[in-house]
Amino acid sequence: MLGNLFLVRTTSDPEKKTARLYEMYPPDRLVVEDTNYYNLGYWPGCTKLDEAAQALADELADTAGFKPDDTVLDVGFGYGDQDFHWIDKYGPSKIIGINITKVHIRIATDRARERGLLDRIDFREGSATAIPLPDNSVDKVVALESAFHFDTRADFFAEAYRVLRPGGVLVTADIIPMEGGKPKADIRSHAIKWIRVMIDDANWYPRKKYGEIMESKGFEGVEVRTIRDEVYEPWREYHVRRLQDPEFKKRSSKLFYKMVAIAHRDQDLLTEELKSLDYVVASAI
Ligand SMILES: C[S@@+](CC[C@H](N)C(=O)[O-])C[C@H]1O[C@@H](n2cnc3c(N)ncnc32)[C@H](O)[C@@H]1O
Repeated sequence: MLGNLFLVRTTSDPEKKTARLYEMYPPDRLVVEDTNYYNLGYWPGCTKLDEAAQALADELADTAGFKPDDTVLDVGFGYGDQDFHWIDKYGPSKIIGINITKVHIRIATDRARERGLLDRIDFREGSATAIPLPDNSVDKVVALESAFHFDTRADFFAEAYRVLRPGGVLVTADIIPMEGGKPKADIRSHAIKWIRVMIDDANWYPRKKYGEIMESKGFEGVEVRTIRDEVYEPWREYHVRRLQDPEFKKRSSKLFYKMVAIAHRDQDLLTEELKSLDYVVASAI
């Protein structure tokens, strides 16, 4: 674990660095309890991270307007939870997932096989900035809490535009700064300090510029909608509740409990620093 952390910090290639980080978090080291989702969640009406993470997946699918005959490209699919859920709930005919993290590809593919879904879900190795698909070949491109990693997000927008059929839709759920927020380099809260290390300056710009970059790659009908109030504060409160829950302490390993407790030990600082973060659902045609 310590060796891996050292490798992450000292890896300069952005994709290798990202993949190394995620290799450190197999399903049994995730914050969720009943699923393998890996996002902060969209919280209205939710009390558990598993529910909120799925609600965020729904927010993306609803914004994109998933339909039964769609071919969907999911860029950065994690362990595939949202794809299994989308197949059940929206019935797209095909989902292609691409990812740079080998453990995600392997485990998500095993899970698709166990569910008998390999004819409809195809998880492949591939980068957001060199999408291994022909021009005009998909109806929807989605990136659920992954685009801040891409090298760069702007290059991903260009690739998404290339692979989308005319009239196709791109939707992201993404972490960006608030206009005039605290500089990324000054973030000190342990719970969000990863942002300093894992999000490159090239991807750290606020809502207005986000939309402008989408437009500069050819997209129209751009909408960059903040959902920050439905993400950060309820996510923070969830962790506070969980740390106070004796059942959580009982069922967690000592190491895991300690890691969560350390990450969330300064709630005043975290509350203050979350004010500098925006969370957006961005869509374009
Ligand atoms: C925070 S996780 C989100 C996973 C999933 N969407 C979810 O919500 O549970 C980010 C995902 O993006 C993937 N990723 C990061 N950089 C990538 C890139 N350049 N191309 C494709 N996938 C990438 C990671 O491997 C990981 O699976």
